[in-house]
Amino acid sequence: MTGGTNELGRINGIIAEVIEEIGIAMGVGSQRIAIEKPEVRETFKIARRNAPNSPIIANLGAPQLTRGYGLKQIEEAVQMLEADAIAIHFNPSQEVFQPEGEPDYPMEILDKIRDVSKALSVPIIIKESSGGLSKEFVSLFYSNGFRYFDVSGQGGTSWVAVEMFRGLRRNNWKAESAKLFSDWGIPTAATIIETRVSAPDAFVIGSGGVRNGLEVVKSISLGANIGGFALPALKAAIRGKEALKQFLQQVIFEIKAAMFLIGSKTVRDVYKTPLVIHGPLRDWMESREISLSTFESVRKRRI
Ligand SMILES: Cc1cc2nc3c(=O)[nH]c(=O)nc-3n(C[C@H](O)[C@H](O)[C@H](O)COP(=O)(O)O)c2cc1C
Repeated sequence: MTGGTNELGRINGIIAEVIEEIGIAMGVGSQRIAIEKPEVRETFKIARRNAPNSPIIANLGAPQLTRGYGLKQIEEAVQMLEADAIAIHFNPSQEVFQPEGEPDYPMEILDKIRDVSKALSVPIIIKESSGGLSKEFVSLFYSNGFRYFDVSGQGGTSWVAVEMFRGLRRNNWKAESAKLFSDWGIPTAATIIETRVSAPDAFVIGSGGVRNGLEVVKSISLGANIGGFALPALKAAIRGKEALKQFLQQVIFEIKAAMFLIGSKTVRDVYKTPLVIHGPLRDWMESREISLSTFESVRKRRI
């Protein structure tokens, strides 16, 4: 989530403290507010202060790149956190249904991100924010040199649903349409597969509705390198440091339990675990012309 207020800064601080203790990574929310209002940068900087040795991912929205942002602002967001990478998030479905949204995604965004990536000091992660990445989208970015993707598939937090609730509160006419599209997107399991087959040697973050350690392991078995989640961590962090720590320890236990039960000693072993894919996911693959044999060979070859 973003920063900008004392309360959000406090929560960013709690998450950072816990991930440093537990040994996992953290991605902050959009730093647009801190680029535009330098006086609130502290609400993000606290993340690096509390997690000096952990991987931290900076964040800005792709639409900002069509509205004047360039290397300077992206480098500023990275430096603010001494970040190890920056996620550039895409949220077209949210922009469409946001009362004040600007659904504007010209192809120049790709050129701009590619130019920035050549000069930037850290890698760029191409990230959705609740709609999933399609194989066409990933192929386009992959062929332009991008090697890091965060799928953020459908099935968890829905930004269209958030806009529906905001619209209802404001009596905005778009709210009814947002309801219709509130489950828009590529389901997480499907977007992990689509991303992996389109970007065989990329680093893929499996996210969107991941709620426990078993789902982290399922994401990895399907083609992700790691799993990620936003809402459950935020809910726990709101309850406090101990609640977040307990939640994450439970997730780690579930990851270990699942790995033990499938006979995987390492995460790399999970890449090779046999899969049974049936039902809607199998139908999805078939209609997207992803054969089981292509998928199997790409999945097992992953770095
Ligand atoms: C409160 C909240 C704020 C978020 N803010 C951002 C953001 O600023 N930038 C971004 O890339 N994603 C943002 N996300 C999206 C998450 O990073 C994630 O992609 C998405 O919520 C799906 O994961 P989940 O189902 O575990 O929540 C936010 C999510 C939540 C719940």
